[in-house]
Amino acid sequence: MPDHAETDALGMPVDEMRALGYWVVDRVVEHFRDGADGPAISSGDPAELRELLGGPLPEQPGDPLVALRTLLDVALQRMQHGDHPRYFARVPGPSSYAGVLGEWLGTGFNALASSWGGGAGPATVELVVLDWLAALLGLPSGAEGVIVSGGSLANMTALAAARAERGAGIAYLSDQTHASIRRALVALGFAADEIRTLATDELMRLRATTVAEAVAADRRAGRRPGIVIGTAGTTNTGAVDELEQIASVCASEGLWLHVDGAYGAPAAACDAGRAVLAGMELADSLVMDPHKWLFAPYDAGIVFVRRAGTLERAFSMRPEYLADVQLAPGTVDFGNRGLELSRRTRAFKLWMMLRTYGAQSIRAAVRRGMELAEIAQRLIDADPRWRCVTPAQLGIVTFTRDGWDAADHAAAVAALTADGYAAVTSTSLRGQPALRLCTINPRTTEADIAGTLGRLARAR
Ligand SMILES: Cc1ncc(COP(=O)(O)O)c(C=O)c1O
Repeated sequence: MPDHAETDALGMPVDEMRALGYWVVDRVVEHFRDGADGPAISSGDPAELRELLGGPLPEQPGDPLVALRTLLDVALQRMQHGDHPRYFARVPGPSSYAGVLGEWLGTGFNALASSWGGGAGPATVELVVLDWLAALLGLPSGAEGVIVSGGSLANMTALAAARAERGAGIAYLSDQTHASIRRALVALGFAADEIRTLATDELMRLRATTVAEAVAADRRAGRRPGIVIGTAGTTNTGAVDELEQIASVCASEGLWLHVDGAYGAPAAACDAGRAVLAGMELADSLVMDPHKWLFAPYDAGIVFVRRAGTLERAFSMRPEYLADVQLAPGTVDFGNRGLELSRRTRAFKLWMMLRTYGAQSIRAAVRRGMELAEIAQRLIDADPRWRCVTPAQLGIVTFTRDGWDAADHAAAVAALTADGYAAVTSTSLRGQPALRLCTINPRTTEADIAGTLGRLARAR
């Protein structure tokens, strides 16, 4: 007779595990089916939430179904629903169910993706996913990578690898670079005078001439340039820096080119996006977030490096307690490609998505996100109340209403948020307040956009 376990490690019986699991699946499927009927965002009162979710440390066992219902009815109702078709704020997260299934399966088996010895299967899934994604984005063969929690950690990982390869040197970024880059540079020990913030042009792009001039000025001053950071799709406006030309400057100056494509790089999956992002593939390191525009549930961010071995050279560690973990050719310890040793397999969800939907569906869904911003722009241009500030670029459009100040923009956003119909954020573009729509959810309709614009206009 096989020796079946009757319970999990802490005593939950198998039948109960099964029943609770089915309950969770049903709720999640209902969320995918009916989520658009609810609000796009709702915030919570801190005291009320603590009251409903807190209390003293539970000493005695409790009913897991009651606990699950509390999470569902309280915690999951008070948050942004980044997968809602009218969630246009910040960066939406239009997740897909095959990704959720992959995540659940890996978590259910407690799969560890640290070392080949401890997880040859998960490591191979990660290698395969990285190859598939590199092919999807048109990256050169030989690119290597690692999956981390998101853009912030991916940027930090890439910049740490760049610093390890090239040594100390000044980092150049733009006034539109995502804040996570500066935070990573500071955390990595870059002093304030080793970080140059360069002005962008009228389209909010970093120009190659600006980079070349700043590098030349530093060399004249006896300083050592090191890393140039380009952005493939800024968070504010979707602008793409002059990547091809910046790559030439980096090549002739011997500088590391890091491209932050956390938001925009997935657009390279479709032809229209690939054209806009030309030059991204020349980066020494590139970041791309599947949990943004590649339909993966949180969390997943990817670091790609152009040259094999870059990540291991920066991060590999061989302490005595891991000495018996020997690597054979073709095998990888992902714990040696970044800062995380123990790490779950984030690759399963991406593998499941690619196997289930196929690259063609993903390409079409990404293209749709770009088109939706173009539709939004047309609606804005056709309405005399609005004025476009930056045109549709990689799924983002910004606009304003003449006569509105920053407080009016913020108030319109707040009114929409309170209503729950849609979620939109405002931003400031060179001091000009603007509203911003990020339209990367392929389930969004033109009516969703028109309804949101109409309510925004009436909100003030
Ligand atoms: C361009 C860019 N880089 C980095 C990040 C940070 O990514 P994450 O929130 O996954 O850490 C973002 C987030 O919106 C982003 O838009």
